[in-house]
Amino acid sequence: MKDLPNLTMKGKFDHFIQEGITVLKPNHDEVAKLHDAGQIPSEFGSRIWHSSYLLIHYLSKLDLSSEQNIVELGCGWGLPAAYIQKRFGAKVLATDVDSQVKYYQQLITRVNSVVVPFFQRSFSQLALDDLSDIDLLVGADVCYSPTNAKRLAELFYHYMKEVNGEIILVDSGRRPFFHLVDEMKQTFSLSLNEVKIDLPTRASGYILHLGKH
Ligand SMILES: C[S@@+](CC[C@H](N)C(=O)[O-])C[C@H]1O[C@@H](n2cnc3c(N)ncnc32)[C@H](O)[C@@H]1O
Repeated sequence: MKDLPNLTMKGKFDHFIQEGITVLKPNHDEVAKLHDAGQIPSEFGSRIWHSSYLLIHYLSKLDLSSEQNIVELGCGWGLPAAYIQKRFGAKVLATDVDSQVKYYQQLITRVNSVVVPFFQRSFSQLALDDLSDIDLLVGADVCYSPTNAKRLAELFYHYMKEVNGEIILVDSGRRPFFHLVDEMKQTFSLSLNEVKIDLPTRASGYILHLGKH
């Protein structure tokens, strides 16, 4: 009998599958090798956060086009970026302030046979960039401090004023995230929905979807 794919993060396996994308666990040899080589992310990017799984679940119900240019903010291991490339064929850029995460992000792209370039860029740097050809910004678990909420608000004002595009931000429900939602509500049309999943792990959080959708 053929082995069934492992769909849960629980158990002895060193990887599992979510929506067709392979996710490596910390006990995977390749992940352990990076860790042992001293490539240790400094800003909480040393693992995949649950909001990445919630974001992939939400994206799986959307109809994104291969023509779109998409940026993942604070990507860490960049799982949603790899998923978007694999599922929709869109052009995706994975960005993060911490250059150490790129080793993990590139490992995830390699095992999934996708090409997602990494660009070391902070939210504040992106807020000064020309984003006119970007159709969608996505991010998972990046609004965890008042400072990051302020930086993200500046980036979102800049991006929406320049492009009037779309932003999807997922969070487990921290206070800075809800402050950001309240601020964005004053100026932009948006939806905020609670989301729960059971696989690959039991998780819940909130999806902020800003702009036309
Ligand atoms: C909690 S981790 C989440 C990582 C990934 N999105 C996930 O869901 O697994 C937060 C990420 O945001 C990045 N980050 C923190 N502050 C940032 C900033 N000012 N600009 C860009 N990235 C930032 C960190 O380096 C880290 O990778």
